[in-house]
Amino acid sequence: MTELIGLPEPPTVGASALPAGTYDGATVFVTGGGTGLGKAIAQEYARLGAAVVIASRKPDHLAAGQEAIEGLGGKVLVVGCDIRDPDSIAAAFDAAEARFGLPSVLVNNAAANFPVPAEDMSPNAWRTVVDITLNGTFFCSREFGRRHLAIGTHGSIVNVGASYAWTGGPGFAHSAAAKAGVKNMTETLAVEWGPYGIQVNGLVPGLFPHEDMTADIQSNLVRTSDKDVCQPALRVGRLRELGWAATFLTSPYARFISGHTLVVDGANWQRRSMTNPPVVSIRDQMGKGPFEIG
Ligand code: HXC
Ligand code: NAP
Repeated sequence: MTELIGLPEPPTVGASALPAGTYDGATVFVTGGGTGLGKAIAQEYARLGAAVVIASRKPDHLAAGQEAIEGLGGKVLVVGCDIRDPDSIAAAFDAAEARFGLPSVLVNNAAANFPVPAEDMSPNAWRTVVDITLNGTFFCSREFGRRHLAIGTHGSIVNVGASYAWTGGPGFAHSAAAKAGVKNMTETLAVEWGPYGIQVNGLVPGLFPHEDMTADIQSNLVRTSDKDVCQPALRVGRLRELGWAATFLTSPYARFISGHTLVVDGANWQRRSMTNPPVVSIRDQMGKGPFEIG
């Protein structure tokens, strides 16, 4: 019998394919860098020498981000910022520039999401997720792009996405539509700003469970107790694997990559069966009763 061995584990935390000091002297701005994937990405930049700016709303998240970077001996600035508000973003970039100089890398990692059947979704629920995930990503990119264009300096943007940008996301209509917008915007901005020296790429994580996941997202995950058997790789992603991908995409070794979206998911988003399993409605998957107006 051929053994099912899955994809190998990556090197340990702290290893890097990039030379030590790759980001010495650089400033990297990470939205939502105090939790989960954003924190892991920020840490990989710090390990490679970057000064890191972490921008998000909640003081406890900012404190966690600061602790994570300082724990590595890195330089860090945390700033309160709601990416739905362009003035708040401008103020965060002002603070970043004043402390470390203009960031040469922007990681648009912050996003919003919760599972909800489309027919139950309130207009404000839709608006909130699209506003944070799509509008916020554009507003941050615009601020970064304008500051670089004004002084003629190079920059690199990474937009963190999701694979349901291509497939649709049953139970996540708002987030999937917003992520599709982010992917498309990545392609447009890469062309518009390439001549000015700015790269724009997307980075799509597969399933990367972590302790900071919101209760809404956790509640969705617990529907299957063992995540590994649901992945073609027979394992979920390790946070450092995403950090390595981000630090590569903005490194000197990826200067001709732009407008691309890199999927790091062990092939999890590809169709994996010869015939499709029976359809189960989102209401049933979420254990919700029949739809009722009001
Ligand atoms: C239905 C919900 C809801 C839920 C909120 N709403 N949670 N509706 N089901 N579980 C509705 C509210 O009722 C309200 O609409 C509207 O959404 C806005 O809610 P607020 O709480 O006022 O918004 P706010 O305080 O701005 O918080 C935003 C948030 C929150 C998105 C609701 O969860 C948040 O801050 N999330 C940030 C972190 C996050 O979402 N991380 C997940 C990223 S993971 P009404 O009509 O009542 O006013 C990810 C994974 C992708 O993206 C791939 C997964 C497979
Ligand atoms: P997470 O821990 O919930 O992180 C979301 C971050 O966004 C938080 O730090 C939050 O900080 C910040 N944020 C949310 N709204 C904001 C706002 N209005 N202004 C500023 N910051 C805001 O989720 P995660 O799992 O690490 O996800 C990170 C990225 O990966 C997201 O883009 C997500 O869509 C994507 N992704 C994750 C997975 C996965 O398996 N984890 C899979 C696919 C895609 P504050 O609350 O402090 O504002």
